[in-house]
Amino acid sequence: MNILVTGANGQMGQELQRLSKLGGANYIFTDIEMLDIAKMHDVEEFIKGHNIDTIINCAAYTNVDRAEEESDIAERINGDAVRILADLAKQNDIKLIHISTDYVFGNNYNSPIVEDTPTTPLSVYGRTKAMGERAIMESGCRYVIIRTSWLYSAYGNNFVKRILELARKTNELKVVDDQIGSPTYAADLAIVIKEIAENELNDIQGIYHYSSEGAISWYTFASAIVELSNAPCTVYPCNSREYRTAAVRPPYSVLDKTKIKKELGIDIPLWKDSLAECLKKIE
Ligand SMILES: NC(=O)c1ccc[n+]([C@@H]2O[C@H](COP(=O)([O-])OP(=O)(O)OC[C@H]3O[C@@H](n4cnc5c(N)ncnc54)[C@H](OP(=O)(O)O)[C@@H]3O)[C@@H](O)[C@H]2O)c1
Repeated sequence: MNILVTGANGQMGQELQRLSKLGGANYIFTDIEMLDIAKMHDVEEFIKGHNIDTIINCAAYTNVDRAEEESDIAERINGDAVRILADLAKQNDIKLIHISTDYVFGNNYNSPIVEDTPTTPLSVYGRTKAMGERAIMESGCRYVIIRTSWLYSAYGNNFVKRILELARKTNELKVVDDQIGSPTYAADLAIVIKEIAENELNDIQGIYHYSSEGAISWYTFASAIVELSNAPCTVYPCNSREYRTAAVRPPYSVLDKTKIKKELGIDIPLWKDSLAECLKKIE
């Protein structure tokens, strides 16, 4: 089985690279230099030349704030390029595993959000990721879309590494406590994606939600990062009006994971246990 992983130098892609060394299918990892997913002819040649059975799309435009000014680029990568992958997947009978985000949801939620809830993005990033989801569903290809949230790992840029960096430079930090969600350790999600890609017995299809267990604020998350890493820094809560960002984030975007847990028969780790695992790798 030949599995193409796009955007392989990002957080999710690097976790999959690490995991694939344990064996399983034949993985082909590509970064943007090797394969730009926005270039249809390159993608077509690549999948035909390598007899690809499954694509795991880890490529995306992920800078949530910059997307507000670069909506054309975000649309091209998160929307148009995903349509290219989906249409080629349909034409070549390839299964497409794609990662999306809790930021496709906006205001008005106060309990975990289920998969078939209509999308209501508040930001350009969220809107372009919703475009990508729609393109996949419209293409008629075999697909699994996994919406995840607050992704972090020992690789790349993320909230955990940013807080560790700040906590070394300063002894006080303010972090918003009025946005509630669930962090996701990319290493945990990589295990689930590998299982979906390789195990034909579990031939699930459609949209699924995955994050660590637990619902917390960014403030609680930052406090735990500081506590578990013994950084000499105090974290104080603030609200989103005090800490303004270019993109508006949803106040509550906890994803309901009942469907993926039931259909794959998996248990999902608690957010703090996964955070501790990740910190062991970073330190
Ligand atoms: N990060 C989060 O908090 C979060 C939360 C929820 C969902 N997600 C979703 O999870 C997925 C993985 O996120 P991540 O954090 O691993 O992202 P990431 O670290 O930003 O990695 C994305 C990768 O895609 C590459 N890329 C960009 N444009 C490309 C193109 N046209 N062709 C090929 N590769 C391209 C990037 O390369 P360059 O760096 O060279 O541009 C980067 O290596 C994404 O779909 C994201 O939307 C992320």
